[in-house]
Amino acid sequence: KKVVLAYSGGLDTSIILKWLQTEYNAEVVTFTADLGQGEELAPAKEKALKLGIKPENIFIDDLREEFVRDFVFPMFRANTVYEGQYLLGTSIARPLISKRQIEIARQVGADAVCHGATGKGNDQVRFELGYYALEPDIRVVAPWREWDFKSREALLDFAEKHQIPISKDKRGEAPFSVDANLLHSSSEGKVLEDPAVEAPEFVHQRTIAPEDAPDTPTIITIAYEKGDPVAIDGEALSPAALLTKLNQLGHDNGVGRLDMVENRFIGMKSRGVYETPGGTIMLAAHRGMESITLDRGAMHLKDELMPKYASLIYNGFWFSPEREMLQAAIDHSQQKVSGTVRVKLYKGNVTIIGRESPNSLYDQDLVTFEEGVQAYDHKDAEGFIKLNALRLRVLAKRDGQKG
Ligand code: ARG
Ligand code: SIN
Repeated sequence: KKVVLAYSGGLDTSIILKWLQTEYNAEVVTFTADLGQGEELAPAKEKALKLGIKPENIFIDDLREEFVRDFVFPMFRANTVYEGQYLLGTSIARPLISKRQIEIARQVGADAVCHGATGKGNDQVRFELGYYALEPDIRVVAPWREWDFKSREALLDFAEKHQIPISKDKRGEAPFSVDANLLHSSSEGKVLEDPAVEAPEFVHQRTIAPEDAPDTPTIITIAYEKGDPVAIDGEALSPAALLTKLNQLGHDNGVGRLDMVENRFIGMKSRGVYETPGGTIMLAAHRGMESITLDRGAMHLKDELMPKYASLIYNGFWFSPEREMLQAAIDHSQQKVSGTVRVKLYKGNVTIIGRESPNSLYDQDLVTFEEGVQAYDHKDAEGFIKLNALRLRVLAKRDGQKG
């Protein structure tokens, strides 16, 4: 048996690694991805070697550019938010991990893949829907649903028995669970479990508090090409470099904090604290760019489709025909979404203060209160209103006047 494990190098996936070797009798191949979580990958390699993984069975990949270019940016073209608020930072990373894991499984001739998500969350669903969509007959090992450790204590005893290093603070319980990548960091559980209680400041890791942000605003210009950001203040940047820079600017201005209770796909509510500094700026800036380049009909249809598209990503259906259909429509709408947006960052706020585009639909002559061009005749408005009022008047005549 050969298994490709999504391996972070942390305690939990190290235990899983050992468990696969000793209880599952599998040859383990580890896959560690750099998605911009801000951790060195070298220690993961060291640890894998120490746990007896052969060098040729250790895969370490920098996926940051692919992550932002092929997953984050397409999602932001739709202005995607789940349940009105969540920017889907964890959800959008899972399909990429699944995809790369399956590629490695094919390459090394593995018959199974393994992840470290628990049996209570969304992540197990996302990983596994990804695996099955790409490799229909793959075997999936989900240790958290399979092993019979009865408690955290039993798990740690197993780790100790197999010489897996446990940092001192892990003997006690970690204060909350974190998932991080270039788009966001999320914190859930433990000290955050009571939704009535405010999240302690120490939970936050990539933003300063808005209260502590500078008293002078930061103003930047973001350039867009066909719906994707391509430059900041005139400097062209790769997708990952651009998001990294926006994260820093967001961090410094206390931008992108969110505390919400959401509905998990598997049916329970959960409370999460999210930090998406760069993403929060991108969301506002993209809407600013669309506001002058998109036609109303296209824009409103996008807004109707968006919640559906967001649910598909949240629920793990990235590799589904319906997600691809929506993506095609969304991408088509972005042909003319090019230009620049000026953005003000100030104490947690993102304000669009200017937009310009060679493709602008904004017509100052048309909208001005001064005497404008002939394209618009005030007299046309009278008939427009009358016809729109027709059925309201018929109703009022039948039902009597209101008010
Ligand atoms: N609730 C968020 C989501 O479902 C974040 C999940 C965080 N995952 C984790 N393994 N800590 O997208
Ligand atoms: C997990 O259960 O592994 C994290 C939470 C989630 O997936 O929703």
